[in-house]
Amino acid sequence: MKKHDRIQRYSAPERINHWIVAFCFVLVTLSGLGFFFPSFNWLMHVLGTPQLARILHPFVGVMMFVAFMLMFFRYWRHNLPERQDLEWAKNIHKIAQNEEVGDTGRYNFGQKCVFWAAIISLVLLLASGIVIWRPYFAGAFAIPVIRLALVVHSVSAVILIIVIMVHIYAALWVKGTITAMVEGWVTSAWAKHHHPRWYRAVRERQPEQQEKRP
Ligand code: HEM
Repeated sequence: MKKHDRIQRYSAPERINHWIVAFCFVLVTLSGLGFFFPSFNWLMHVLGTPQLARILHPFVGVMMFVAFMLMFFRYWRHNLPERQDLEWAKNIHKIAQNEEVGDTGRYNFGQKCVFWAAIISLVLLLASGIVIWRPYFAGAFAIPVIRLALVVHSVSAVILIIVIMVHIYAALWVKGTITAMVEGWVTSAWAKHHHPRWYRAVRERQPEQQEKRP
């Protein structure tokens, strides 16, 4: 492919940031499922031993939260709801057939939902995780508060797992998307088809240097 057919979507630091979040997510998800279901106890070994998993799981969780916050502050503006989103949502059946509708900007409505669901569940996971974190913080809370925090922690973990499964499915199913997060670029055709308004903004700002993103 000719280089000018490519548009940069993510810089190297952005991609490293994203993959740190993804790596931490895999570790906390597997070890968390290991704590939760006796038949999945063996999953705790992703963090070494079951004892080590108990110690490391909250630290890896905090690392994921901090890394995600960097993404949050970088992308929140692009994920604000817009009038165009309504058209996208109304035509979700067409999207499922790989058609595009509306004048989508940098992110579509589906991506925006993933973004906000992720930040809400991560905040809930962090807050409830602190309440149940032994030996550091749990002692400071009453038993009913700890019980409530355990429910909040489990429910938000399930929500985040489902949301990220949708995110991964979409990233692999929409052809040409994965290169954005692996190598940093997308093709002009991909941008024009899936994010026409973002494509025009890139071209308007850098008609010569077409590979840079705004
Ligand atoms: C193996 C797992 C994952 C894969 C394959 C994956 C793939 C991708 C891809 C291809 C993109 C670029 C999409 C685009 O620019 O149109 C992306 C963006 C993004 N990913 Fe992931 N991802 C994974 C895990 C995660 C996790 C665990 C989180 C958060 C908890 C996450 C949060 C995000 C965010 C916030 C964006 C920017 C899109 C937006 O702001 O709406 N990803 N991911």
